[in-house]
Amino acid sequence: MKFNIAVLPGDGVGPEVVTEAVKVLEVAGERFGHEFRLHYGAVGGVAIDQHGVALTDDTLKLCKRCHAVLLGAVGGPKWDDPLAKVRPEDGLLALRKGLRLFANLRPVKVFPMLVNSTTLKPEVIRGVDLLVVRELTGGLYFGKPKKRWQTARGRHAVDSMLYSEKEIERILRVGFELAMGRRKKLVSVDKANVLESSRLWRQVATEVATEYPQVELEHMLVDACAMRLIQRPAYFDVVVTENTFGDILTDEASMLAGSMGMLPSASLAAVPKAGVMAFGLYEPIHGSAPKRAGQNVANPVATILTCAMMLRYSLGLEKEAQVVENAVISALEAGYRTYDIMDEGGTRTGTREMGDLIAKSMKA
Ligand code: IPM
Ligand code: MG
Repeated sequence: MKFNIAVLPGDGVGPEVVTEAVKVLEVAGERFGHEFRLHYGAVGGVAIDQHGVALTDDTLKLCKRCHAVLLGAVGGPKWDDPLAKVRPEDGLLALRKGLRLFANLRPVKVFPMLVNSTTLKPEVIRGVDLLVVRELTGGLYFGKPKKRWQTARGRHAVDSMLYSEKEIERILRVGFELAMGRRKKLVSVDKANVLESSRLWRQVATEVATEYPQVELEHMLVDACAMRLIQRPAYFDVVVTENTFGDILTDEASMLAGSMGMLPSASLAAVPKAGVMAFGLYEPIHGSAPKRAGQNVANPVATILTCAMMLRYSLGLEKEAQVVENAVISALEAGYRTYDIMDEGGTRTGTREMGDLIAKSMKA
C-alpha cells in the first residue's frame, strides 16, 4: 500500500530523532511492501526563522493532504523571549486545532529491563502499563474569554475552562473504546468538587458509560489521581481527562518509565476503532532538548515507538507496528542504552546507533 506522511522535524533534537524513526519506517516499508511517501515541512522555531510564523498555511495544507503527520519537537532558548510575538509552541497548538486532533493518547509502559533506571522503587513500577487519553482541543488551552486587561486596580488576566457536552462525549468515547481493547478499566479524572465544567464532565462520562457495560468506570479527582499515580501506578489501565489536567498528569506519569525519551504519543482526529483508520499526528512526548541537539545522544526510542502508533492507528498496519515495538524491546534486551536510560552493565549507545540497531533487528 502507498501512504503519504507529512514529516515535521522541528527544532533541537527533533530532526535527529525523526531521522531514526524514518529509517525504521523505511525498513517496515521494504519488509512488508509498503511505500511511505514523505513530505517534509517546517514547524516551530525553524518556521519562525524561515517564514516569521510557527506554522505556515502551506504546512497545514500539506498535513491535511496526508494520512498522518510525524513530528519531532519544537522550541528552544532562541525563541524563548517572553515578549516575543510568536512562539514555537504556537505551531503545535495551531496544528492540534487546525487538524482537529482532539484525542491525545499517551501510553506509559514500563519495560521490565528498565525498572532500575527510574527514581521510583522497582516494586512500585513493575508491570505498569497505562494509557492516558488527554482531551487536546478544548479546556483552558483554547476556551474564551482568554485575555489580559488593565483597570485602575491593576492588571488582570483570564483563561476559561470551557467544555461542551459534545467535546466531553467524544473524548470519553475514545477512553471507552481503548479500554475495551485493554483491561476494561477506565478512570475519568476531573475536579468535580470545585469546577462546574468537571461536574458536566462527570455527568457525561456516566451517561456514555451506559453504552459500554463491559468497562468499569471510576471517577477520580485530579489531585487524588496525581497521588495515586506515584503511590500505586499499576492500579491504572486507561485514564481519560481534560486538556490541562492531562498535560500535568502525563509529565508525572512519564517519570514512571524512567525517561521521557521512551514515550510516544498520538493525537487523533477521530475515535479509534479496530479496523478504522483515524487521521493523526504523532510525536514523542519529550521536548526539543536544545542542550542535547546535534550531539547524537538523544534517545530515538520515543519517536520510533511513535511511528509504531502511527502504523497502528492511522495506517491500519497492526502487524507492522508490532514488529517495530518488538525491535525496540530486542535492542533494550541486548543492553543498548542511550544516556537517559543508562544503567550499570548497559552499552552506551548514540542516537544513530540505536536507530540502526532497531532497524537491523526488524529485518531479522
Ligand atoms: C505537551 C506540551 C505542550 C502542551 C506545550 C509545548 C504547548 O507540554 O504536549 O504536553 O502544553 O500541550
Ligand atoms: Mg506537557
